[in-house]
Amino acid sequence: MKKTAIGKTLGILGGGQLGRMFIQSAISYNATIHILDPDAAAPCRPLAHQFTQGDLLDEETVFQFGMQCDLITIEIEKVNTNALKRLQAAGKEVYPEPEVIQLIQDKRLQKAFYEEHGIPTAPFRLTSDRADAQRHTDFLPAVHKLGRDGYDGRGVQIIREAADWDKAFDAPGLLEKLVPFSLELAVIVAKNTAGEVKSYPAVACAFHPTANLVEYLYAPAPISPEVEACAQALARQVIDALDMTGILAVEMFLLEDGSLLVNEVAPRPHNSGHHTIEGNFTSQFEQHFRAIMGLPLGDTPCAALRLWLIYSVRLVSRVKRS
Ligand SMILES: Nc1ncnc2c1ncn2[C@@H]1O[C@H](COP(=O)(O)OP(=O)(O)OP(=O)(O)O)[C@@H](O)[C@H]1O
Ligand SMILES: [Mg+2]
Repeated sequence: MKKTAIGKTLGILGGGQLGRMFIQSAISYNATIHILDPDAAAPCRPLAHQFTQGDLLDEETVFQFGMQCDLITIEIEKVNTNALKRLQAAGKEVYPEPEVIQLIQDKRLQKAFYEEHGIPTAPFRLTSDRADAQRHTDFLPAVHKLGRDGYDGRGVQIIREAADWDKAFDAPGLLEKLVPFSLELAVIVAKNTAGEVKSYPAVACAFHPTANLVEYLYAPAPISPEVEACAQALARQVIDALDMTGILAVEMFLLEDGSLLVNEVAPRPHNSGHHTIEGNFTSQFEQHFRAIMGLPLGDTPCAALRLWLIYSVRLVSRVKRS
């Protein structure tokens, strides 16, 4: 018989700040949390029931860690997926599914997946190294992206003209058409083990011009109800196509004509969803927990009305007391 959420041992690969926020949600449900992270001073260490220091990319380390848990999830995609497949074969639950993590680890596979599944995305060409990329001057202006291991914009270079080719990566990657987007949007969507799907209202992300990191998040996004509906539908299309369990952040470009293109996805809590901790009925962390533990998903709308009600009641009771 499957254990309920309460009493299950949940193993998280990665013990950084996302894991720490995840534990703060999970702890309300009385699950036992084990963490694996290479850093002895990982942010999760003081909050976890058990902490193991180890390499997330080492197959045996991940496998042995997972064998002590009922269910394994991630807070970072750079993990050994062979070990996760072996854990699944040994009867452990692994969410998101190892095949999804494998796909997301490589932007080349990810783009091919969108194309295969009719998911709108910017036109692209695969490149094997810098010399190969330089053969595509006819495709400029474009963005050269590293296939693997890019994050926080570090695997992305804009190539506007042939003079920029020295910025291209000398490793397997892809060239993507430079998209003249009017906004960058993100929709967080979740699917639980029973197939129930819920998504959060879209947010708009504004990036720091040089650091290439999200600097401001606008929630709700300043978009029309029609664009909001399209963004929601697109996020659902992606999670359905991936056939995955857990939370998925879908990054999109909004074009001037109102159409949307998927940029990339992350199958874990994401920096475009931190506002949900205070701003929405269910935080992205609790939603991920609910999704993978087989619980019904929580409500996703903005909880501004609830906050307004709580503060009004407090104000009224204070006035009454004085
Ligand atoms: N085809 C494109 N056209 C225009 N701008 C792009 C394109 N692709 C990426 N960018 C810009 O570069 C940013 C980083 O790209 P991308 O999301 O692919 O990389 P990343 O390293 O995974 O970033 P992060 O980890 O911050 O999500 C995007 O958010 C966007 O601002
Ligand atoms: Mg991105």
